[in-house]
Amino acid sequence: MAATRNSHPDDTFYQKADSFFAANSKIGLTYDDITLATLYSDILPRNTQLDTTLAGGLQLNIPAISADMDTVTESRMAIAMALNGGLGLIHYNMPEREQLSQVSRVKYHVQGLIQDPIKIAPDQLIGDVLALIEEKKFGFSTFPVVNEKGTLLGLLSGHVVKPRYATKKVIEALTPRKAVHTITKKELGKDPIARADKFFTEHLGIHKLLVVDDADHLHGLITMSDVERITLERKAQFKPARDASFRLVCGAAVSATRNAFGELDKKRILEHVSGLVERGVDVVAVSTAHGHSQGVGDTVKVLRDAFPKLPIIAGNVTSAAGVEYLADCGANAIKVGQGPGSICTTRIVAGVGIPQMTALYVCSLAAKKKKVSILADGGITKSGDIVKALTLAQAVICGGIFAGCTEAPGDVVEISGKMYKHYRGMGSLAAMKSGSAARYGHEKADATRKVAAEGIEALKEVCGSVDRVLATLIGGIQSGMGYLGAKDLVSLRAKARYIRVSPAGQREAAPHDVVELKTGN
Ligand code: XMP
Repeated sequence: MAATRNSHPDDTFYQKADSFFAANSKIGLTYDDITLATLYSDILPRNTQLDTTLAGGLQLNIPAISADMDTVTESRMAIAMALNGGLGLIHYNMPEREQLSQVSRVKYHVQGLIQDPIKIAPDQLIGDVLALIEEKKFGFSTFPVVNEKGTLLGLLSGHVVKPRYATKKVIEALTPRKAVHTITKKELGKDPIARADKFFTEHLGIHKLLVVDDADHLHGLITMSDVERITLERKAQFKPARDASFRLVCGAAVSATRNAFGELDKKRILEHVSGLVERGVDVVAVSTAHGHSQGVGDTVKVLRDAFPKLPIIAGNVTSAAGVEYLADCGANAIKVGQGPGSICTTRIVAGVGIPQMTALYVCSLAAKKKKVSILADGGITKSGDIVKALTLAQAVICGGIFAGCTEAPGDVVEISGKMYKHYRGMGSLAAMKSGSAARYGHEKADATRKVAAEGIEALKEVCGSVDRVLATLIGGIQSGMGYLGAKDLVSLRAKARYIRVSPAGQREAAPHDVVELKTGN
């Protein structure tokens, strides 16, 4: 195409989304098939903002979500994601009760004020307390002691919670009420963290502050380590993603469960989600391989009717009609991606799915019309892919990138001196046997017969903490935004211009013609 006489050469070759994807409508394009053109910039990468608000009101401080997969997101991963400003979607390949306690673990992690601290009764034995710590895997051993009316009797300090005192009663070992530091809710005022911070500075060596009412009933506990962490967080560029009560945000996947007659089990789905909502879940994800389907639509409708304000993610789709359908059913954010995932075989097995950039563009058109968000789900292997995805989507969902992290579930295995973690598709036979068969349209029992798996079991090299991985990814995203002169994600979407890359261009894009000594990270 030659530049016309009056047009700027850049505009002829580097096109905005609408003209670029229309001109490439006969071919499915993914991340490596395109590159973004740079623009004049007065924005330094470190000054770019990455916050994103998903339709339905969920606010994240970075646009990254860890996938609801049983080798990626349980409470540890969800905590790490939220602490970094993102979101973890806790998978559903576990009993519903277990998923509820995983959500609780995230919601009650490091709060400024622990509103419902674990309490101990005065007539319990220290041995009972030790057993409780062991059973619940508590990482702390100091507990407020209250009577049956909730009145504060004292504090059982970690110094005395030792096996040598196992047969002693709590009442004999506690620090008595008059020696325990307390504050009333009223005294805490509008900024409890600042007030508590001042208290700890003024009271040398005191690490716990108990919150009581005028009748001396216990209402909470503030620890110095929480206060210090939160004070530090307030200074960080990307703050943890928190809800209105200052708890970390957490999402959970739900299945479009069917009963023995093959009908949607609405009662069970509602009970499950009610439990999640009671525990403070911020968003639920109705996760299936084919979101443009009756079962998923009906599940979303049931949830929307029962929980009008609950943000709902649903998917997966790769068509505008799919986005419209789920949006009409009541979903706020739609997962886009069928078969791009690093462990997916859907395209090979079922012959369906659309390369991600084309799918995202097509879906973004419907999303704008319906005022919903889209999430780029799967196929992301590097920060540059995320920058490209964010030119069309409001956030990305990643599995493989996080599966080698310390916070991912599963043990480390050593093979030939290298450390790995298991990473498997939710459509792999093993994962379907553990519960995810419905996600791929199978009965759980089918998974033991010969059904077509749509995912593989694999290994990921261990890659350190989520903090480290996200720091690298965020650095890359901010660089990309700096190159486009985009101060935030809205501006990135508005400014993006694309061009296709030839196979030689793809080779040129990676290190070449050198002997690599050290990777970039
Ligand atoms: P990445 O590329 O981040 O992809 O590892 C994670 C996403 O892949 C999807 N997923 C699957 N897709 N078969 C599929 O076709 C599977 O077994 C499977 N398991 C996960 C899912 O959308 C996830 O977020």
